Amino acid sequence: MLAYFIQGGQLMREQNVLITLFGATGDLAHRKLYPALFRLFQKGFIKNHFAVIGTARREWTDEYFRDVIKQSVQSLVKSEDELNQFLSHFYYQPHNVTDTHHYVVLKELSEELDAKYQIEGNRVFYLAMAPTFFGTITEHLKAEGLITEQGYNRLIIEKPFGKDYASAEELNNQLRQSFEEKQIYRIDHYLGKEMIQNISAVRFANRVFEALWNKENIDHVQISLLEQVSVEERGGYYDTSGALRDMVQNHILQILALVAMEPPVSFGDVRKNKIKVLEQLRPYTTAEEVNKNFVRGQYGPSVDGLKPGYREDANVADDSNMETYVAGKVFIDNERWEGVPFYVRTGKSLHSKETIIDVVFKEANSPLFCGIDGCPSNRISIHITPREGFCFVINSKAVGNTIALQTSHLEKIFDENFAMSSPEAYERLILDCIEGDMTNFTHWEEVAASWKYVDSIRQTWDSEIAAEFPNYAAGSKGPQSGYDLIERDGRKWVDRD
Ligand code: BG6
Repeated sequence: MLAYFIQGGQLMREQNVLITLFGATGDLAHRKLYPALFRLFQKGFIKNHFAVIGTARREWTDEYFRDVIKQSVQSLVKSEDELNQFLSHFYYQPHNVTDTHHYVVLKELSEELDAKYQIEGNRVFYLAMAPTFFGTITEHLKAEGLITEQGYNRLIIEKPFGKDYASAEELNNQLRQSFEEKQIYRIDHYLGKEMIQNISAVRFANRVFEALWNKENIDHVQISLLEQVSVEERGGYYDTSGALRDMVQNHILQILALVAMEPPVSFGDVRKNKIKVLEQLRPYTTAEEVNKNFVRGQYGPSVDGLKPGYREDANVADDSNMETYVAGKVFIDNERWEGVPFYVRTGKSLHSKETIIDVVFKEANSPLFCGIDGCPSNRISIHITPREGFCFVINSKAVGNTIALQTSHLEKIFDENFAMSSPEAYERLILDCIEGDMTNFTHWEEVAASWKYVDSIRQTWDSEIAAEFPNYAAGSKGPQSGYDLIERDGRKWVDRD
C-alpha cells in the first residue's frame, strides 16, 4: 500500500518507481542525484516502494555502491536507521552500454526489484552520462524489453542536448525511436531553481507587474549569469562548448522565455508559450549583425597572477579561441516586445557569482518631478543566486523642504531558512518526473528553436580567424566589449559592486 502524508499542508502520496541510473559512478550522481533522492526519501515521496539500479562500466558491488552513496548523503543524515533503510533500496549492475547481454541482465534485475517492491512497472531511466551513448542506450532499452507495458516509462536526459541544431535533431530522432516526446524529460537544472519558478508567480500573480509587462512600459531586460568559478576540471568539455553553448543556448534562453512568454492559461501551457517566444527570437544571419549584437571574451590570468588563465588549463589548447564570456542583445519579434532589447551576459572566472534578472521600466515623465534630468527608472530585480529574493526600485520625494527625488530599494531577500527549506533543483525535478509533470523540462521544440538561434552566432565566430583572446583577467568584471555593447545604447548593466 502506498502511504499518504502531509507536506506543506497538502496531502501527498508516496510514489512507486524503479529508477535505472546510467552514469551511477559519475560526479553528477554523487554531487546531486543521491542527495536529491535522499531528501525525497526523508520527506516520504519515495519510501517503501522504490528501487534504484545504478549502472556504469566499473565493477562495483551493491555494498560498495551503497558506501559511495552513504558518503554523498552524509551531511543530510539524521538517523543511521533511516540511512540504512534508504541504502537498502540501491542496487548496482556493471554495464557496458553497447553490450546487448547486459540489457538482458538489467531486465531480469528490474523485474525482480519490481516484484520485490511492488513497483507496478513504473520506470524512470536516467541518463547521467556522455550524450554519445544516449541513442545506443534507448535503442537497447526498447529492443531488450526494458520498457514496460504496465506502468509508465520516462526518460531523463542531462545536457548537453546536441552541440548544434543538426546534432540535437539527430539525437532527438534516435530517442524518438524508443520514447515518445511525452516520455522525454530534458533537464535544464535552472528550471528547478526556486527563484526561476518564482518568475511566473511575480509576473502573473501581481497585476502591478503583468499590466505593465510590455513594450509600452519596459525599457529593457537584463539577464546576468555571472560565475566566479573557472572551468575547473571540465576544460576538456568546455573547450568544445564555450559559454554560448554551455549557458546561453539553454539556461539564458530558458529564463528569457519565462520572462517574455505570453500569460499561460494553465501550467500545461507554459511550454507552448515558451516555444512561441523562442521561435520569435530575431535571428542574426550575417557576420556583421552577429558581431554588432554579440560579443565574447576569454579570461587570462588574474591581475595578481594567482588565478591561471583559461589557456593554461591542462585540457585546453594553448591557442584556444573558445569563449568563456558572452554578452548579447536579443530581440523578440512579436507585438508585446517590439523594440525592447533583452541584454544577456554570462561568463566564468568573474569577480563574483551573481544570477539575476533586472527588468528596467521606462522613465516616468512627470513634468513636476522628472524635469531635465528625467526620473530614475523603476526596476524589478529577481535575485536567483546566491541571494534569493526581489528588489523593487521606486522613486519618492526626498525628506524635507524639497521636491527632489530619492530612490528606494524595496527589497525582500530570503534568509538561510528559505534556502534550507526550499527543495534543491534536482530534488524538485526528479519528483516532477516521477509525478509526470513536464512543466519544468524542456520540450524538443524549445531545444530546436534555441539551437537555431545560437547556431548562426557560433558559425560566425567559428569562421573568424582568431579572437583577440584573452581579453579579460580572471577575477575581473569581464571584457570591456561587454560593457560597450549596452553602453552604446545609452544603458548600463545593473552591477552590484
Ligand atoms: C551548467 C554549466 O549547466 O551550469 C556549468 O555546464 C555552470 O558550466 C553551471 O557552471 C552553473 O549552474 P549554477 O546552478 O551553479 O548556477
